[in-house]
Amino acid sequence: MTTTNDQSVSDAVTAGSHATESARAGLSNLREGAGGTVDQQRVATVVGAALEGIRAAIRENKVTYEEFDAFKRWLIAVSDTGEWPLFLDVYLEFEVEKVAAESQQGSIGTILGPFWLDGQAQLDTPATLPMRDDEPGTPMILAGQVTSTDGTPLRGATVDIWHTDDEGWYSGFASKPPAGNLRGVVRCDDEGRFEIHTRKPAPYTIPLDGPTGQMTQAAGWSPWRPAHIHLLVAAPGHRTLTSQLFFTGDPYLGNDVASADKPELTLDPQPTGNGDEVRSDRDFVLEPGD
Ligand code: BEZ
Ligand code: FE
Repeated sequence: MTTTNDQSVSDAVTAGSHATESARAGLSNLREGAGGTVDQQRVATVVGAALEGIRAAIRENKVTYEEFDAFKRWLIAVSDTGEWPLFLDVYLEFEVEKVAAESQQGSIGTILGPFWLDGQAQLDTPATLPMRDDEPGTPMILAGQVTSTDGTPLRGATVDIWHTDDEGWYSGFASKPPAGNLRGVVRCDDEGRFEIHTRKPAPYTIPLDGPTGQMTQAAGWSPWRPAHIHLLVAAPGHRTLTSQLFFTGDPYLGNDVASADKPELTLDPQPTGNGDEVRSDRDFVLEPGD
């Protein structure tokens, strides 16, 4: 999602509408959606608190009609570009994830973000992610083992992995990488071990030509995310871990626009001696449950 080349013109609408489609279609497979009865008290409490936060911002900052109208136009633009998943995942998801983490055992996770896609290539370990013949970037191996909180290796574990290419583009959300590029669901061996061959991703900005990026820049905030690899680590009878892995030395660590980076999630890949290839080992511990 960098804006350093000619793809930037359609970034917001392309990425935004694809993220909206993906959220509609795919998230229902990943997490149980809201359904059934609405708890009136819960709605009053949560929506009431959110509205009061906005009203307080208006009162305390003496917001004018011009600013109120600009806010309305901005909200309409977020809808028109399909950027609701992007905006919500940049500015709010990390707080929801912190709440979820309070009741989660096992490895530390972080946010999902808007760029996961359902239905990607199913691969057996050791696996090479789908990539172009001339895929640019540093060859990288990510390897490890998936166990339960009692240390039992998890047979049937899978690692769903997706990340940008070496220029910061996600397949499925930008026109340059082909569909499915640098995405896959890797089936671990019977001991829960996995070895994934890929390319090291690059830092990227959220799209700067849409309302989320424009608001971010209008506030003088950094639009960058540090380079990261997204993961959904799953196993039968265990809670799925949603996580990301970052890289030591990344200039955007500690200043992630999505507030999703955590020191515990930082990798320090080491040369393997095979050309410029690097490798990181990282194990995952899953909590029993649904
Ligand atoms: C991401 O993890 O890729 C992401 C998260 C939140 C907003 C935008 C991107
Ligand atoms: Fe990402």
